[in-house]
Amino acid sequence: MDAQVATNSLDAFWMPFTANRQFKAAPRLLVGAKDMHYTSHDGRQVLDGAAGLWCVNAGHCRPRIVEAIQRQAAQMDFSPAFQMGHPLAFEAAQRLSAMLPDGLDHVFYVNSGSEAVDTALKIALAYHRMRGEGARTRLIGRERGYHGVGFGGISVGGIGPNRRHFGTMLGGVDHMPHTHDLARNAHSRGQPLHGAELADQLERIVALHDPSTIAAVIVEPLAGSTGVLVPPVGYLERLREICTRHGILLIFDEVISGFGRLGSPFAIDRFGVVPDLVCLAKGITNATVPMGAVVASTTVHEAFMAAPAGIEFYHGYTYSSHVLACAASIATLDTYRDEGLFERAAELSPDFEEAAHSLQDLDHVIDIRNLGMVAGIELAPRPGAPGARGYEVFVACYEAGVLVRATGDILAISPPLIISRAQIDEVFAALRAAILKVP
Ligand SMILES: Cc1ncc(COP(=O)(O)O)c(C=O)c1O
Repeated sequence: MDAQVATNSLDAFWMPFTANRQFKAAPRLLVGAKDMHYTSHDGRQVLDGAAGLWCVNAGHCRPRIVEAIQRQAAQMDFSPAFQMGHPLAFEAAQRLSAMLPDGLDHVFYVNSGSEAVDTALKIALAYHRMRGEGARTRLIGRERGYHGVGFGGISVGGIGPNRRHFGTMLGGVDHMPHTHDLARNAHSRGQPLHGAELADQLERIVALHDPSTIAAVIVEPLAGSTGVLVPPVGYLERLREICTRHGILLIFDEVISGFGRLGSPFAIDRFGVVPDLVCLAKGITNATVPMGAVVASTTVHEAFMAAPAGIEFYHGYTYSSHVLACAASIATLDTYRDEGLFERAAELSPDFEEAAHSLQDLDHVIDIRNLGMVAGIELAPRPGAPGARGYEVFVACYEAGVLVRATGDILAISPPLIISRAQIDEVFAALRAAILKVP
């Protein structure tokens, strides 16, 4: 696309989670992608240090996935999702559930992470109601949590700017404290040592409201969007234990942590903690076709199947189990398996960790944290201008040919799992230069 044409015609599109006026004054447009690189509208190659938006885990435009989508689009473009089915939905669900631990075995398809979260919250409420515990209506999230942008997701989410304009949201929601603790954990490699006791704050909330009123607790096992918060050693185990003891469902939002990001298929495997419901999206189709899923435990699913004959769950989307998404998902799971990408992520992790922590000597860097193939680099905010430094580093990296993600003053790095060791060095060299350049 001609740059001038682009700048002349940017007005109609209201961009999501974007400073529209700032962007349109100096647009960054991408027009092509292959493997580890984007092509920008001005013809530059940009190394993808962010897997798009934490989602292109197998790299861009992988032939097997592209061909599966093309083939399916020509054979059957759409089939109705309600009271009708198509074979790929059953195959995709079986493949996905086989990747998860036994007992997490029923897949409800949606189209995004946000829909996965709202669906999981509804499943939790309906589950208790169907078992005769309809007083369990409270939902517990966590400060700094990101669970998408539906009303359910922003209610249990804990990021102030995502909530403040939107009224009272869902009632009956409470939040646990976040686990970020610079004083004790700055520059931890892997899981920080301090903070397991923060899980006990859930006991306080349970005591306040009474367990008989609480339906579910939802957390990201590793909090991504808020700026990469790795769970302290022992924390998730303790949350699991408290939820089990009080009959509360535990929901893991693995929209970012799933599909190899942590060097294991899911965070569940990495931490050895199994929730009752898992939210997935992003890497489920390598981001080629929008798709999300909630995977439910046998116990939860059985409660629905014990209902009187008829529709068991009054919920679903026109595009639930869209046939193009199912074709893309099967080809994506094949790609992950046949290329051993989750194992590759585990193998690369030590070098990735080393490269990330090599930035520790730089001015303004107040914390570096990492796990698997994700790292967060936290910069001290510039006095009076929070977020400016992070944004300027992001822009400087982009101009130098590397895409990273900035969330406030935290840079997040989460490349496709096909990245080479040389490209890991390239990402962090660009970050080093950018951080040095920005005042
Ligand atoms: C943990 C988590 N949950 C939910 C979402 C929302 O996903 P989507 O943007 O596909 O609605 C995201 C997106 O980044 C996420 O990171």
